[in-house]
Amino acid sequence: MTHTPVKDISVTICHDGKIHEIKTYANEYRSLMMLIYDQIYTEGFGECLGMGKCGTCLVEIISSSHELSCYERNEEMTLLRTGITGKEVHLSCQIMIDEYIDGIKVNII
Ligand code: FES
Repeated sequence: MTHTPVKDISVTICHDGKIHEIKTYANEYRSLMMLIYDQIYTEGFGECLGMGKCGTCLVEIISSSHELSCYERNEEMTLLRTGITGKEVHLSCQIMIDEYIDGIKVNII
């Protein structure tokens, strides 16, 4: 029996003037929010634990080389409610950790 090697996924997170280069693999975390929540503790981040309702997990995508895989739970309404808009602003809890996120760079808002 052969095993497919697990491919590393690299994610760069900018927060509070620091740059965090994090390695993960597909589905290690349910979402980018869970990765940030686990790896970079930031107070008050991800309060609804991924329901797409609290708006405390906002990130701005600085660069990404693929179209991202996303859940579609309440993102549009929640972004409208926060009043923080922009094509590159997303709820990190709606972004999946899979091969398409590899190489992404985001800024925690
Ligand atoms: S964790 Fe609440 S909206 Fe993302």
